[in-house]
This record gives sequence, structure tokens and C-alpha cells, in this order.
Amino acid sequence: MQAFIINGPMRLAGTIRISGSKNAALPILAAALLTDEPITLHDVPPLRDITNMRALLTELGCESATQPDGSLTLTPSSTSNSHARYDIVRTMRASVCVLGPLLARRGEARVAMPGGCAIGTRPIDLHLQGLTALGAEISLEGGDVVARAQRLKGTTVFLGGPFGSTVLGTANVMSAATLAEGVTVIESAACEPEIVDLAAVLNAMGAHIRGAGTPRITIEGVSSLHGAEHRILPDRIQAGTYMLASAITAGDVRLDNCPLDSLLAVEDRFQAAGFTINRLDDTQPAGRCSITIHTGGERAGPIRLTTQPFPGYPTDLQAQMMALLTLARGNSVVTEKIFPERFLHVPELGRMGAQVFRQGPTVVISGVDRLVGAPVMASDLRASASLVLAGLAAEGKTTISRIYHLDRGYDRMDERLRALGASIQRVEEDDL
Ligand code: UD1
Repeated sequence: MQAFIINGPMRLAGTIRISGSKNAALPILAAALLTDEPITLHDVPPLRDITNMRALLTELGCESATQPDGSLTLTPSSTSNSHARYDIVRTMRASVCVLGPLLARRGEARVAMPGGCAIGTRPIDLHLQGLTALGAEISLEGGDVVARAQRLKGTTVFLGGPFGSTVLGTANVMSAATLAEGVTVIESAACEPEIVDLAAVLNAMGAHIRGAGTPRITIEGVSSLHGAEHRILPDRIQAGTYMLASAITAGDVRLDNCPLDSLLAVEDRFQAAGFTINRLDDTQPAGRCSITIHTGGERAGPIRLTTQPFPGYPTDLQAQMMALLTLARGNSVVTEKIFPERFLHVPELGRMGAQVFRQGPTVVISGVDRLVGAPVMASDLRASASLVLAGLAAEGKTTISRIYHLDRGYDRMDERLRALGASIQRVEEDDL
């Protein structure tokens, strides 16, 4: 296993281009199972989760190849295997997004039941409820969810759960409904930009989807889908992470290809903390721009923050914002409403001198004047990113072990931060 060694504190400066979104790309790759024709995707990020999804699709009879221009082409060739094995699903929960496409196109899907993960129990009951409403028969066989249907039938599906809607559940039901007979209406659909991007690809493949990005999505089923070409939207979570990296180091970082319009709740919290986001131009394609973050050399002011479904503040940026707030000029309050157990970073930040007090889904953070470097352990993707941010601002050496979590969701984070002036090295843990 590998680790990062960071020597701080430092001030980041320079320009970074935001990559394509991991969470948009994963269900879009799975959507290739809905057609016999090639799908070409641009801006697919070079991440471990994407490699895992490509390996899963290969097993399911859909080959993928990177083209000389960097695009990815997916070519379905065989429909003989519809089994997503536990070996792959347990490394990446997002494997569950092959369920809807396999069922709709092949009449049967067998997907290993994803277990819990570091951030909570993460059930898939809403996915199954939605597919059942479309006429699928679902059973659990040897730890696998098995879904069968001759042809799915459109209906009204309600996808609201105790923590709001479900992003991948919406992706699964929307993808499956493209090939259903008749009209499907998803009520309480997830409104995340990644769902809008998936709908854009499906429509480019010949689907008839309206309302993606709102809580009501209407899908008129068609008998088949064809090939398409699409550019994946930029990664709002990666953008937010580098915005926070710039802010925590009082840096001067410019972000290109930044999806600021899908980060308005984050911009709002930056403003509450006393920082300004400058939008530099609007000449880039829709939904993308360049920005800088202005801190005026000041530490963040204390804020209150509650994570919510989009367009609220994203749970995937809660841990990184908490790193910033450990150094704020007062007491901040963070409440996690999507994954109430998502606080594995709290004790690790405490090892670096942060004053953090958790009560259930709420954490009070009393800002301190300095963090000190320490050996800490990465536990999940976004918690790991928060430790990197804390390490950039902390005095002395921070060693973050188990960074394979980070490689799932941030491409070359060490190289990218080095290019902005950080002292960060990737080492083998055995060499420590
Ligand atoms: C996606 C994102 C993840 C993000 C999350 C919430 C991907 C690959 N992952 O995960 O990064 O943190 O959205 O924005 O896109 N729930 C149920 N029943 C279900 C499904 C979900 O109760 O059937 C609950 C979950 O436990 C959680 C909440 O609903 O409390 C939201 O989960 P969901 O939107 O489904 O997360 P994912 O789509 O798995």
C-alpha cells in the first residue's frame, strides 16, 4: 500500500484543470449495456473506480478502449454473462448501476448485493423498489440480487427515502425505463447534475427523457437505443476540493473547466466564511468556467453547514470543508443529513490538533490557530481528501496511509498538488 508524506504549511498557487466527473461517468459507462452500438465518451477521468467499472463491463460483454485522442469507446459484443460478481462489487459500490441497464436490455441481471461501507450501511432498497414497480421480479440468491423481467412496463415510481432521494437509484430506474413499454414517471427523483448528464447521454442514444434535474423525470420508453458521443461534465466534487485546498492554504489557485453553477451551495458557504469566488470568464462551454478564490490572506470565519441533496451543500464535500473549519476564527457547526455516520475523518483531524466534538450527526468545530502534522489513516475517499487538505496547512510532516482510497476519486492528486507548489510525496508504506 502507498502513503502520502506532506510537509506543511504551504501556500498553493497556479492553475489546475478540473477533470471529468467520476460520479457522472460511472452510470454513463454502465448505460453502454443498453445498446449494441459503440458509445464514445470524452473527459472520462483516469481513476481506479473507472478502471474497475471497465473491468466489470468487459466481464459483461462490453469492451472499452482508450483512443489516441484520449476518448473512451465502449463496444458491446456479447450478452452471455449478466453477473456482476461480488469480487468487483465489493471494491466499488457503484457497480450497482449495471443493474438497471442489464435488466432492461437482457431481461435478467444478477448483481452481488453491495455490503455497507465506511460511510454507513448504504442500502439499495429504493433501487429495487423502483425496478419492482416497473415489473421486475427480484430475489436474493446466494448473496446476489437477481432481477428478471420479459419487458419492463412504464409506471409512476416514487424514489424518496428517509435521507432524500437516491442518486444511483434514480440512475438505475431512469436507465431501465428508457427501454420499458410506455411512460415512466419518477417522482422524488435525485436532481444531481450527474443525473442530468446521464439523461443527456441516454437522449443522445435515442431515449425520450424530460425533466432530468428536477424531482419529476418522465421517460417515454423506446424499443431500442443506438450509439452516441458525449463529453462528461466536469467533477464538481474535485473542483470543490481544490477550491478548499486553495482556501486552507490562503493560496492563489485558478480552476479551469470548473462547474461553478453546480457549486452554488459551496460558493454560498465560502461567502459566509468571508471568501470570494471570482468567475473569470464565461467563454467556456456551458456549465464550465474559470475561477479564482480570494481569501485576502485571512482565515475562514466560522460557519454553520448542513449537507443536503442537490442543490444543497454536497455530503461529498463535508469532510474537506471540515478541514478548513478546524482553522476558522471561531466555532462552526456541521450537520450531516445524507450519511449520518460519515465522520471517520473527525478522530484523524483530532490527531492533528483539531478541536472537534461530535454529537450524533452534528459536529462542533472550535477553530484553532495551528494544526500539527501527524501520522493519520485514510478511511474513505472524501475523508482522505480532508486529511490531505489538513496536511497542507499543518505545521510539519503529515503521513497519510492507505491512500488507495484517494486514487479511487482524484487523478494524480499528488502530482497536481506538487504542480501548485505543495511538498507532497507518494511512498510505499513498507518504506516508512
Ligand atoms: C451517490 C454518490 C456519492 C454521494 C451520494 C449522495 C456515486 C457513484 N456516488 O451515491 O458519492 O455521496 O450519491 O450524494 O454517484 N438510500 C436508501 N436506500 C437506497 C439508496 C439510498 O435509504 O436504496 C440512502 C443512503 O443510505 C443515503 C441516501 O439515501 O443515506 C443517499 O444515498 P444515494 O443518493 O443512493 O447515494 P449513492 O447513489 O450510492
